[in-house]
Amino acid sequence: MCGIVGYLGPKQAYPILIDGLTRLEYRGYDSAGIATLEEGGKLRVEKKEGKVANLEAHVAEDIPKGTVGIGHTRWATHGPPSDRNAHPHAGSKGRIAVIHNGIIENYESLKDLLSDRGHTLVSDTDTEVLAHFIEEVMTSTGLDLPEALRIALKEVVGAYAIVVLDQSQPDRLVAARKASPLVIGVGGKNDFFVGSDATPIVAHTKNVVYLEDEEVATMTRDGKLSIRTIGDADVTPEIQAIELEIASLEKGGYEHFMLKEIYEQPRSIRDSIRGRVNLQRGTTTMSGIDENWGEWEKAQRILILGCGTSWHAGLVAEYLFESLARIPVEVEYASEFRYRNPIIRDTDVVLAISQSGETADTLAAIRSAKDAGAHIFGVCNVVGSSIARETDAGAYTHAGPEIGVASTKAFTAQVAVLTAMALHVGRRLGRVDDGVFMRLVSGLDNIPGLVEQCLESAPAIGEIAKLFAGAENALYLGRGYQFPVALEGALKLKEISYIHAEGYPAAEMKHGPIALIDEDMPVIFIATQDDVYEKVVSNIQEVKARGGQILAIVTEGDTQVKSLADHTVEVPRAHEALAPLLTAIPMQLLSYHIALLRGCNVDQPRNLAKSVTVE
Ligand code: M6R
Repeated sequence: MCGIVGYLGPKQAYPILIDGLTRLEYRGYDSAGIATLEEGGKLRVEKKEGKVANLEAHVAEDIPKGTVGIGHTRWATHGPPSDRNAHPHAGSKGRIAVIHNGIIENYESLKDLLSDRGHTLVSDTDTEVLAHFIEEVMTSTGLDLPEALRIALKEVVGAYAIVVLDQSQPDRLVAARKASPLVIGVGGKNDFFVGSDATPIVAHTKNVVYLEDEEVATMTRDGKLSIRTIGDADVTPEIQAIELEIASLEKGGYEHFMLKEIYEQPRSIRDSIRGRVNLQRGTTTMSGIDENWGEWEKAQRILILGCGTSWHAGLVAEYLFESLARIPVEVEYASEFRYRNPIIRDTDVVLAISQSGETADTLAAIRSAKDAGAHIFGVCNVVGSSIARETDAGAYTHAGPEIGVASTKAFTAQVAVLTAMALHVGRRLGRVDDGVFMRLVSGLDNIPGLVEQCLESAPAIGEIAKLFAGAENALYLGRGYQFPVALEGALKLKEISYIHAEGYPAAEMKHGPIALIDEDMPVIFIATQDDVYEKVVSNIQEVKARGGQILAIVTEGDTQVKSLADHTVEVPRAHEALAPLLTAIPMQLLSYHIALLRGCNVDQPRNLAKSVTVE
């Protein structure tokens, strides 16, 4: 949510900032802007509503110059997308420029204070209030930027990752964070790169410092990086090497990131189970669990927290853990959890799931569970992310960077890791019998090849998409392990094609949604052959009797559902606990093709952003 980039060094800043903004556009794409210090220390701010390309076109005739600068791509919170509300925002004297990701919660009271002191604001944003406030502190105290910023931030309530450029200090860039991520890249030539994540940085350096909450970093042209806390303590910067490869941030010949990420799933699932599931030895390995085995051994309940697709992966995990480890599971929307005074006991294990590792709701829920004394285990994709760092132990998903806003490979990687975890815990607790354990170990090992086969149905799904692309509503139905996949299918469709879609347990349909069914209603059934297959067949009959258009995802060789449904897509046969890893694929392909046919921006759907770092 909102992309931030900054540069200080010997090179021209503009190309670095624009390249960084283009890579960060998945975080927000309402407007984009940059500020550089041009010759003579003149602050130049350029910003434009819309995509980064609009900004580039806007400055094409007169490219901003200077070797220090900041850039921002916005996901609007306060004030609609417009040139005026785009970042960077300048203070009233035009001395500083600020870019910001997060929300300043006390911006109204700061605004009143500033208006009493004669400040006039020109945008609707909380960020402009912050820029004026910092400049006001600088002017009234005579302090230089890092110190004034530290003092100013003591008064600020809310979440922020900010980078500030001061016209009077062309050899310095200052950044700070609280509850919104910020990464500093340390180059080899006395140069620094700042990013809201590592994506704008990796092309330049692999050495990074993750700023912690309430830290203010000052970068200077002689290559010095100093960090002080808002409470005025010195911090020694800890440089870490990141493994991210630049190629993983490119489309690699695919038309969209989403399509590339769908096709990467055989690899991303394989990477996520590698070293964790060993077919030859017939074992699972989960060091994060083993090192904290006491917590799992005494667990009376697993509390799963997540949002969106990660919450859906959590629902699959509920079935997995209850069936394989026989531990009761509750799956909570992270956003609801912390606001309802939840009961947490020391026999609870909290499992937080997040692709980005930066989702503000999930992070806040983790913190409140931690305060209540729970042991927190994280399943994250982004290495070094806030959630990965704030959990007591965890497992990375190794899906690689996911750029498309609609989560695809992250979901299957999460489910694969959660399956390995449930198997591992179940085995150690002695609750999975050897036969089932080995069937699942071997089945999981086989899954990447079966996902490959699922991808072969893409052309057929492209044809079915043509029949559904004009729909206004759609219903996704599944039971058991396939119910969360139905929810995920519906989410995929609505977020990228803007068709209203609902996911429902198939049997619940007759308690209400059945009233919606007519000949214009596509109904997507997940009807793989498992324990509830016959029940789902009955639900299909009920829809057919009411004229709904039925697409069914079936196990290969199925004849019964094929004779009922208007269209079917086959997936290979797999154990029911592993089948979500297969049925998710046609769901993703269907929404991708429908969105494409409707002319939607598949990778950057309206109103959304990849990583939701505001509550
Ligand atoms: O990064 P996270 O997994 O914590 O993100 C959670 C949701 O914001 C995310 O899954 C969102 O729902 C996706 N757009 C779904 O495709």
